[in-house]
Amino acid sequence: MSEKKAAGGLQGVVAGQSAISTVGVGGIGLNYRGYDINDLAYKCNFEEVTYLLLKGHLPNQQQLDELRTLISQKRQIPCKLKQILETLPKESHPMDIMRTVASLVGILEPETKPGQEYEISIRLISLFGPALLYWYHYSNSGIKINENTGKDSIAENFLKLYHLKSEIDPLVVKTFDVSLILYAEHDFAASTFAARVTVSTLSDFYSGITTAIGTLRGPLHGGANEAAMQYLEPLRSIQQADQFLNSRYQSKQLIMGFGHRVYKKEDPRSPIIKDFSLQLSKTANGDPTLLAVSQHIEKRMIEEKKIYPNLDFYSASAYKQCGVPTPMFTAIFVISRMTGWGGHLIEQRSNNKLMRPVSDYTGPAKKQFVPIEMRNKANL
Ligand code: CMC
Repeated sequence: MSEKKAAGGLQGVVAGQSAISTVGVGGIGLNYRGYDINDLAYKCNFEEVTYLLLKGHLPNQQQLDELRTLISQKRQIPCKLKQILETLPKESHPMDIMRTVASLVGILEPETKPGQEYEISIRLISLFGPALLYWYHYSNSGIKINENTGKDSIAENFLKLYHLKSEIDPLVVKTFDVSLILYAEHDFAASTFAARVTVSTLSDFYSGITTAIGTLRGPLHGGANEAAMQYLEPLRSIQQADQFLNSRYQSKQLIMGFGHRVYKKEDPRSPIIKDFSLQLSKTANGDPTLLAVSQHIEKRMIEEKKIYPNLDFYSASAYKQCGVPTPMFTAIFVISRMTGWGGHLIEQRSNNKLMRPVSDYTGPAKKQFVPIEMRNKANL
């Protein structure tokens, strides 16, 4: 059997079949289960998209109400998990907390029988935010938050628990909710592919999710939203933005939040999150300078490098204006992508085949074995 040589980074390699989303599929844009991302972002909420990705169709009102009730129950943090979260250092990175939470829930509430994927997905989607914020408030100020905020959406619950407020500006809630919809699913992105590889060995669901969180963390993938905010934060004028870009160009360093493996022009999610980030910049708590700087960098990158912003670039300014701290940006991506990961693991298991590719061997030709007593540098 002859094997085709793979491009570096598996670029352009079709690694399997999936019926969940279209990314860069000719002419039809980004769809989740057939629905255009613009319709989902502007006309739906994250809970409807969660149902769509996990169950395969949009919910009716009764199904959505049932899901909201389930989410409100499943956000309860187990006592043992609280005790462990209280011991974790405040210097921990939020992504370490997320990976640890997935792993700990896998111990406290293990997957014991087939067919639990939906229930476990909803458990993690509901629990990730409260657990992260329990650790955050406890480790920073000793406060033990009450994670139960009734039938609030995932977005409202997160924002209320972070800000410790009972009311959040509706535009902030909508922006956060839209970001969750945009981050929810993206075909065989590195983290999703990694999770599918893990469960293809018949490993458990939680191991797949733990794999995915570790893979998402890197700045070439999910960590790009945090990395983008890190360079945007100190830029308080167009002149400073120019200096930053010029020095990056000169040193040939990457500009995080730009470029994409599949989209070589516009990332269809970018104009949507930019729209909300711009709307926030015009409010009392907005940061118009951050938006002016971001738009200037975008303009120069497109004109001079022909590289377009991806979802992470304007998510950075959107989250900043929602008042969320930069190290939590990628952790929010986890809450959202949990829906896509869940859908993919269900799909993988429905027609499983061990994922085990081969490499193009570039090592030495066969060598004569040398017993240890006869080895020296010369004959190795
Ligand atoms: N800044 C500067 N140059 C770039 C960038 C960038 N952000 N992205 C690509 N390029 C250049 C790259 O250096 C290369 O130049 P040359 O041909 O001279 O060597 C050319 O564009 C082609 O890039 P590539 O590395 O072959 O493209 P890729 O498909 O392997 O990389 C990418 C895709 C996302 C890894 C890359 O664009 C990148 O590193 N971007 C910055 C990190 C980032 O924003 N990641 C988030 C990706 S989208 C959301 C997600 O997955 O979570």
